[in-house]
Amino acid sequence: MNNIIKIYEFLKYNRNKKYPSHNSQNILKLFPYVNDPKFKKSYDILSKLCEKNVVMHSLAVSLYTYELGLNIKNKGHTINLDLAVIGALLHDIGRSLSHGIDHGVKGGEILRKYKFSNEIVLITERHIGAGIPKNEAMEIGLPPKDYIPITLEEKLVAHCDNLISDIERVDITYTINKLRKKLLLSSNNHPAILRILRLNNEINNLLNNKNNI
Ligand SMILES: [Fe+2]
Repeated sequence: MNNIIKIYEFLKYNRNKKYPSHNSQNILKLFPYVNDPKFKKSYDILSKLCEKNVVMHSLAVSLYTYELGLNIKNKGHTINLDLAVIGALLHDIGRSLSHGIDHGVKGGEILRKYKFSNEIVLITERHIGAGIPKNEAMEIGLPPKDYIPITLEEKLVAHCDNLISDIERVDITYTINKLRKKLLLSSNNHPAILRILRLNNEINNLLNNKNNI
């Protein structure tokens, strides 16, 4: 756990400094997944394609996914931690092409091109909020299909992304308020908000060892 604290401090300290890929060895030395070649490959592609703020955000989400995923695993639940951590690292790679709501879809296209597994592609496509159902996807002009996270790894990455603003950890109320402002809503009854709250409950239940996923 020491490494996790160190890397979070590193992220905060380097937030406004030089692009970390110029000094990637430092950051990777601290990360718990430093010896995983898949992690290194993913990090290299991400830092080649994306701007510094996206890379830093992705590392912060990946780190949070690792922490919560480990806690969930220690509660006796089955989770592929390697998959979740790498999926979290790559979830915003589509921001190299678009910062719009289509960045999940764009990310999926990029990852397919780089021959990443379908599991990683789906984590990326399904990470927006707590997912987007087919009818809403069609309304906003996304290719018509469901983008709802189904596997625990997909759910965990979406949830951790909801709880990281830039590189800072925030609580669910902060996230909901931010989304309400963005969507100009007066209540929490919007389906996108209800989905985020439901996902938050689901993950918290796992962390509290109530198995309802
Ligand atoms: Fe995103």
